[in-house]
This record gives sequence, structure tokens and C-alpha cells, in this order.
Amino acid sequence: AAQYRIADADLVEFSAENGARVIVRALLTERQSRGSVFVPMHWTGENSSLGRIDALVPSITDPVSGQPALKHVPVAMKRYAVKAYGFAVSVAKPANLDAAYWVIAKADGGWRVELGFEQDNIDWETWARKAFAIPADVEVTGYADARSGDTRLAFFAGQHFLGALFVAASPVAVSRNWLVGQLREQQAETAKRYALIAGRPSADRPDPGAIVCSCFSVGVNQITGAVRQGCSTVEAVGTTLSAGTNCGSCRSEIRRIIDACHVLAAE
Ligand code: FES
Repeated sequence: AAQYRIADADLVEFSAENGARVIVRALLTERQSRGSVFVPMHWTGENSSLGRIDALVPSITDPVSGQPALKHVPVAMKRYAVKAYGFAVSVAKPANLDAAYWVIAKADGGWRVELGFEQDNIDWETWARKAFAIPADVEVTGYADARSGDTRLAFFAGQHFLGALFVAASPVAVSRNWLVGQLREQQAETAKRYALIAGRPSADRPDPGAIVCSCFSVGVNQITGAVRQGCSTVEAVGTTLSAGTNCGSCRSEIRRIIDACHVLAAE
């Protein structure tokens, strides 16, 4: 990744011999073998602009099983440079997303959206109203810093939070899962609205972090917190947070987090 000047959360373009291309967000991890990349196959033309990784797979199948070579596709890779990155949450399903890169995912109470733009001279309020079906009589709260390129807009209809758009010149750094969780909550207090525009919870409401255990909505920050409090096994984390005690598919990730915490503590 360093050779290609790709950092976490950068956009990356993959192309294959068949001429197809996809654009995805980067996650750098030691879990991926050197010289290979992995892209999940669940993005479609319905929920992403150019995320359909199967487009890169040649139409050649195994003569016996009929399987395509889903895991052996040579690809070219390069950083996909954009002028502006965006993240948004919206109660209404996003539509008419005028962006070079976009993906949408259903979340509790609404939708979450990742964005990349080749232009940064966009009227972001107009863009957000159109994309998230925000009525014209709903007021916008937030700020735009022309020097840094940072824009943060939130829309409220009375106590109801309708959505927010965060734009920055580099990958947007906000607490994504916490913001998604706010779609279900009443947002009457000024302090809560300021927190929404800040993109992270106030100090008295810890950020759970990226979700590790989907069954119980337990985030990485909660797990590292439990480890610091003395949980040194997957079972102990399960007893404290319930994480890993249902389908079990997150247990190996919990194990890795525990190990990483112990390595950090030993350094
Ligand atoms: S994802 Fe953690 S128990 Fe199912």
C-alpha cells in the first residue's frame, strides 16, 4: 500500500484485463497477504457507484463445478484521487447521488453513505437536500470552512434528525456508528445537535467504535475497554459485553483485539 501511496480510508481503483473497473475504500491490514487484495462481493449497482467487484472476474468457469475464478483475478491498482470526501447519514433512502464515488448501506433508522467527489466547488446544502429528500422548509445547521474545505451540515425537522452531510479534503474522520445511531433518537437539545455536527459523542457518552459483534452491536472501543478492565479471554469479553455469544462469527476478531491490546500493553 505504501508503494502505491494508499492509506486507510483512501479510495482505490482496481481494473482488470476485461476493461472493467471498481472503486472501493481501503482498509490496510496485516491479515491480507502481501501482493494480494480482497474486496467483498456484496456491493451491487443498486448500492454503489462502482463497487461491483464481480465485473472484474473473467467469464470463464471451472468445467466441472461451474465456479468462476472469483479468488484469482489479476488486477491493477491505483489510488483514486478525489477533491472531496464525504460521509452522510439520512433517514430517507439516498437517491440521485451526484458523486464520482458513492456507496449506501441500510442502517437502523435510515442509511449511511460514503462519498467521493471530483469537484469541491459544490453547493453542499443543495446537494444534500436533493440526495436526502430534505424539504425546503427544513432549516440547516452547521458550518463550512472555505480554507480547509470542511463542511458539516445537519437537518432537523422539529426534534427529528433527518440527516447530516460531512465533507472534507481528506477521508472524513467522524464516529460513523454513533452518527448512525442518532437517526433513531430525538434531537431537541442544543448540546446534542452540536455533538452531531462535531460528528462524535460528547465526553460523557463514550463512542462504541466500529461494530465488531453485529449480533449485540458491540464496538471495538467497548471491547478494548473491557480488556483494559481485565477481560483477557474471548469468554470473559462475552460475559461482560455479550459479544461473541450468539453466532460466534466475531470471536476471532475479538481474539485479535485482545491480542493487540496485550501487545500494546507489553511495549
Ligand atoms: S457477530 Fe458476534 S455473536 Fe454474532
